[in-house]
Amino acid sequence: MSAFASPKILITGATGNIGKELTALLSSRNIPFRALVRSPDSGKEIAKLPGAELVVADFNDPATIISALAGIERAFLLTNSSELAEQQQRNVVSAANPPQALMDMLIAIGFPVWQAEGLVEDYAHYARGEAATVANDFRDLTGEAPRSFDQFAMDYAQAFK
Ligand SMILES: NC(=O)c1ccc[n+]([C@@H]2O[C@H](COP(=O)([O-])OP(=O)(O)OC[C@H]3O[C@@H](n4cnc5c(N)ncnc54)[C@H](OP(=O)(O)O)[C@@H]3O)[C@@H](O)[C@H]2O)c1
Repeated sequence: MSAFASPKILITGATGNIGKELTALLSSRNIPFRALVRSPDSGKEIAKLPGAELVVADFNDPATIISALAGIERAFLLTNSSELAEQQQRNVVSAANPPQALMDMLIAIGFPVWQAEGLVEDYAHYARGEAATVANDFRDLTGEAPRSFDQFAMDYAQAFK
């Protein structure tokens, strides 16, 4: 079993100039870290450092970034300095923030901002279990038990034919 706890720190760009220095520094201080690399081969020197864990991911592939961030509390976001860097940095920030990722996706497929915000808020309600609450308003107002959706569908089946 590793002497190191599960890493809470992610280093992206770990094979780059800064990443190499940073990973060596963390290792020398016995701080566990996860290094994001593009292939196991490119990360093999880093993998030798005590406390290192490798994760293979690509800034251009958001699904891999979401996996790379699992269990992580802090990330050093080092990208290269190409014209893609800004979008790549956005991809990482979105992946670290699922509501933002959902918002970005809804806007990208054509939802207006106000509607995307409403949906993100609705989903947050569902995630917190708040939408599971059954209100008694109907019973209080009518004195009757609410009808289930199944029963409603059977009662009104003719109307939908
Ligand atoms: N070095 C400096 O003195 C300095 C000074 C000021 C600011 N900065 C800024 O700091 C940042 C990092 O600098 P650096 O010199 O360490 O950069 P670098 O040596 O060019 O390293 C870039 C890192 O990004 C990784 N990378 C590139 N494309 C990727 C992708 N699609 N998915 C995942 N990883 C990818 C590279 O991995 P691969 O090994 O697989 O290519 C590499 O590890 C840059 O934005 C730079 O402008 C650097």
